[in-house]
Amino acid sequence: MENLGILIALFSLFSSSTSLHPSSHTNLQNHCLDVQRSALLQLQHHLYYAPNFTFSSKLELWDPNTHCCSWKGVTCDALGHVIGIDLSYQTFQATFTPFSISIISNTLNLAGNNFNTTLFPYGFGKLPKFTHLNLSASCFHGQIPVGISHLTRLVSLDLSYQEDCYWRNDQNDVSFDYPTLKLEKPNFKILIKKTRSLRELYLNGVNISSPSSEWCETTSLSLPKLSVLSMSNCDLSGHFPAEFFLLPKMQRIDISGNSRLMGQLPEFPINNSLEVLSLRYTNFSGKLPS
Ligand SMILES: *[C@@H]1O[C@H](CO)[C@@H](O)[C@H](O)[C@H]1NC(C)=O
Ligand SMILES: *[C@@H]1O[C@H](CO)[C@@H](O)[C@H](O)[C@H]1NC(C)=O
Ligand SMILES: *[C@@H]1O[C@H](CO)[C@@H](O)[C@H](O)[C@H]1NC(C)=O
Ligand SMILES: *[C@@H]1O[C@H](CO)[C@@H](O)[C@H](O)[C@H]1NC(C)=O
Ligand SMILES: *[C@@H]1O[C@H](CO)[C@@H](O)[C@H](O)[C@H]1NC(C)=O
Ligand SMILES: *[C@@H]1O[C@H](CO)[C@@H](O)[C@H](O)[C@H]1NC(C)=O
Repeated sequence: MENLGILIALFSLFSSSTSLHPSSHTNLQNHCLDVQRSALLQLQHHLYYAPNFTFSSKLELWDPNTHCCSWKGVTCDALGHVIGIDLSYQTFQATFTPFSISIISNTLNLAGNNFNTTLFPYGFGKLPKFTHLNLSASCFHGQIPVGISHLTRLVSLDLSYQEDCYWRNDQNDVSFDYPTLKLEKPNFKILIKKTRSLRELYLNGVNISSPSSEWCETTSLSLPKLSVLSMSNCDLSGHFPAEFFLLPKMQRIDISGNSRLMGQLPEFPINNSLEVLSLRYTNFSGKLPS
């Protein structure tokens, strides 16, 4: 809990930094703010290299003697404010569960690491600034916390294929029974209720097994900007709402691998924007629209 507090505090530093003027010694391009630099170093302090979930050594990604805007995975704007953190595929684990959200910028990519833990139920709702959140393939499991639905500025959310991480780490003993993420309570409907800026939603492999009358009422579809919906292998059942096909910006829909999912294709308007549609291994029926 103490660590959570520290990190939420760190996040506040980052969030408020946009209103700070760069101090005299940071006015060179790509010299990050001291306050952000030390927050990143504190973060690094909690990251462990963990192949096969075995903690081996501290992850020393960044050299404190260099400018943090030049650090691997750190993106700054011209004034030296950290605007993106990409720590994907570093094979790390963090020493405490509430680690991820509290950190830093609007954009966070933790894909492809070795968490093997739940997505803890607190923290997200307090930090609604995230626009891009990528937690795919990192062995997160269990219920998706309701706090994610409070990230009202999300443009892109990727929680896909957590089991890839188990396969990566467990090459000798591949099973098809790894724990997955679940979207039951909150359900899909609640998840998307306030995310009106969402453009890309990737939930492949997340267990959304409740019937569609529960996971998505069509009246709750308020995703005017959605252009990618990727929900393959989600164990979806019931009727897929045709409204998804007709969302004004929709370009890619992948709902393959949901063998109990029923549906029909609508007549598409002539000016529709759909480019990619995958319905493999679903129970769609009816006539193909002209
Ligand atoms: C992942 O975590 C679960 C419990 O949370 C544990 O039972 C399991 O052994 C862990 N997997 C590995 C490969 O360490
Ligand atoms: C998430 O990160 C992984 C690894 O960097 C990448 O392959 C994937 O495309 C990302 N997802 C999104 C929505 O950008
Ligand atoms: C981790 O997995 C790799 C690849 O399967 C294997 O070679 C290595 O021995 C494993 N290490 C441990 C500590 O289990
Ligand atoms: C999804 O969750 C439900 C309810 O918890 C469970 O019965 C079902 O087996 C799960 N499906 C998969 C593919 O794990
Ligand atoms: C398609 O045309 C209709 C009628 O002209 C218009 O209302 C709608 O916004 C258009 N849709 C797209 C995706 O351009
Ligand atoms: C597939 O859809 C048909 C109706 O189109 C329905 O009768 C059948 O039960 C569905 N199968 C599954 C596995 O959901």
